[in-house]
Amino acid sequence: MPMKTIAVFVSGNGTNLQAIMNAVVRGALKARIALVVSDKKDAFALKRARRAGISTLFLDPKDYRDRRAYDAAVLRHLKAQEVDLIVLAGFMRILSPSFVRAYRNRILNIHPALLPAFPGERAIKDAFRYGVGVTGVTVHFVDEEVDHGPIIVQEPVRVLATDTMESLEKKIHKVEHRIYPEAIKKVLSGGLILKGRRVLPASHPEKT
Ligand code: GRF
Repeated sequence: MPMKTIAVFVSGNGTNLQAIMNAVVRGALKARIALVVSDKKDAFALKRARRAGISTLFLDPKDYRDRRAYDAAVLRHLKAQEVDLIVLAGFMRILSPSFVRAYRNRILNIHPALLPAFPGERAIKDAFRYGVGVTGVTVHFVDEEVDHGPIIVQEPVRVLATDTMESLEKKIHKVEHRIYPEAIKKVLSGGLILKGRRVLPASHPEKT
C-alpha cells in the first residue's frame, strides 16, 4: 500500500505538530507529512516544520475576499500535493462547508476537553473554572459545525484540588501528544467505519 500523505494545519506553538512529526520519525506513524499550512505568518509551528525539512504554506487571510476564497486557495495546494488526510493541530480558523465537503471524513481535529462539554477556544480554562473533576481530550472528525463531528477517541484527565490552570494544561497536552498520532494511525489504517455519529472498528458486528 502506498504511504498516505497528510497535511497539518497550525496557527500557534505546534507542540501537537511536533508530536506527530516525532511519531513519523520514530516509525510509529507510517505517513508522509507533505505540507504544514498556517494562517499565521509567525506561528512557531512553521519553524518546527522547516527545521524538520517539511514544506510549509502560509496564506494570509487578509489577502482573500472571504473564507470561501481562502479555503479554495488552500484546497488547490492540497490537491497538488495529493493530500489524503488533513490534521488540524491548533488551527484557529473555522473551515467553510465547501472545504469540509471536499475532504469529508478526512479532516481530524483535537480538542482539549471531553466534547460536547466545553467547545470553543478556551476549553481548558472553561473546564477548570467550571470546577469539573474530570476533563480530557477529544479527537474527532470535522464536520460543518464547530467542535462537533464524530468522535474517534476521548481520554479523560482528572482535575485534582492541587491542580492549577497551568498544571492542568500540562496534563492535557501530554495526553494530546500521545493520542493524536495514535488516532491518525487508526484513521489511516482504514480500520474505522462511521455509523451515524458513532466511529466503530471495521470489524464491528453493527456495521451493516
Ligand atoms: C491544543 O491544545 C489543541 O487541543 C487545540 O489547540 C492547542 C494547540 O496546541 N486545538 P499546539 O499548537 O499543538 O501546541
